[in-house]
Amino acid sequence: MASEAKQQQQQQSILVTGGAGFIGTHTVLQLLNEGFRVSIIDNLDNSVEEAVDRVRDLAGSNGSRNLQFHLGDLRNKDDLEKVFSQTRFDAVIHFAGLKAVGESVAKPWLYYSNNLIGTLNLLEFMGKYGCKKMVFSSSATVYGQPETIPCVENFQLKAMNPYGRTKLFLEEIARDVQKADPDWRIILLRYFNPVGAHPSGQIGEDPKGIPNNLMPYIQQVAVGRLPELNVFGHDYPTKDGSAIRDYIHVIDLADGHIAALRKIFATDDIGCTAYNLGTGHGTSVLEMVAAFEKASGKQIPIRLCPRRPGDATAVFASTEKAQKELGWKAKYGIEEMCRDQWNWASKNPWGYRPQP
Ligand code: NAD
Ligand code: WQD
Repeated sequence: MASEAKQQQQQQSILVTGGAGFIGTHTVLQLLNEGFRVSIIDNLDNSVEEAVDRVRDLAGSNGSRNLQFHLGDLRNKDDLEKVFSQTRFDAVIHFAGLKAVGESVAKPWLYYSNNLIGTLNLLEFMGKYGCKKMVFSSSATVYGQPETIPCVENFQLKAMNPYGRTKLFLEEIARDVQKADPDWRIILLRYFNPVGAHPSGQIGEDPKGIPNNLMPYIQQVAVGRLPELNVFGHDYPTKDGSAIRDYIHVIDLADGHIAALRKIFATDDIGCTAYNLGTGHGTSVLEMVAAFEKASGKQIPIRLCPRRPGDATAVFASTEKAQKELGWKAKYGIEEMCRDQWNWASKNPWGYRPQP
């Protein structure tokens, strides 16, 4: 990028909510590398400050100069007041939220309270301080069990569980906020299945407790923390009987946020627009296991189990809109995803925590 453009960007301050988390840390690092100033607000509910420290180190002088961390909760307006009164933000990337589907079924109030009230408070303070540009973490979950694939952004939306409903409601809220005040520019990014880690092996996904998602589970089997992988469903009408998803490298996802941010700054009539962030390719559970075994040299013992309730047979993204309008396309395939996930896992078998 031309140094003048980079210089100009250095003036731009981005607030990243949930910036200590899995996708947040990788995106903050790319933002710092691109010369943005970044403030994080995170309550460390599902993350640790060590992750932010590692991002600061990886970003070198940009990290020590341009990164601020605020321990705070979006449900607490005093925390938001403190952050917004200190810095004038040019845009917000909003990751903060709870994301475990099963937990959302057991604790719907917690999910509605955290994800909806947190976001409503954030929108209130953005409005109050005149920062009306937002990139929001939505999810492929808003497609429910799609009747046809690939999933296209103009499909009718439906949610299968309270977590999914928080994303669906928040998309609707964002559309209403923007409709009421056209000064708002909002991009809704619908992520498919984010996996992988930064190639340095210094940052990656570190779920608390037993992982819900496939890749962190495989990773914990590979390092000996769990004995075997339960493969949920082996009678799907797919080539090997296991379910198909669109896995996307977290580095590609982070780059997608930079592309969305640039689009927001450059487009005064973006309105409130949704984009898929996926690769457009489907991979089965068994193919993912084989790819991880190859990358790690470890055998992953599996147990074939019944289908997980609520799971779709096959989900993958249409990538045309993001490619055409954001100029963004995923670069990495499952080989790189497994290579980088294993690099992170082998260097940090217990995540950011020391071995208990
Ligand atoms: P994550 O849990 O690693 O990161 C979320 C961060 O938000 C955590 O650091 C957590 O401590 C923080 N947080 C939660 N509630 C907060 C609150 N009230 N105030 C302040 N901080 C709060 O999750 P992630 O995988 O990085 O996901 C980021 C976003 O992307 C989430 O909104 C998630 O729903 C969405 N998303 C994730 C996936 C996925 O599979 N990882 C897929 C689609 C969408
Ligand atoms: C992938 C495949 C499982 C674990 C979820 C959310 C979605 C989005 C991404 C946030 C499925 C199978 C899994 C295991 C397995 N998150 N599996 N054994 O369900 O596609 O999407 O994460 O927005 O909203 O629903 O991802 O990683 O849980 O599962 O066989 O131990 O792996 O059945 O076929 P999913 P996942």
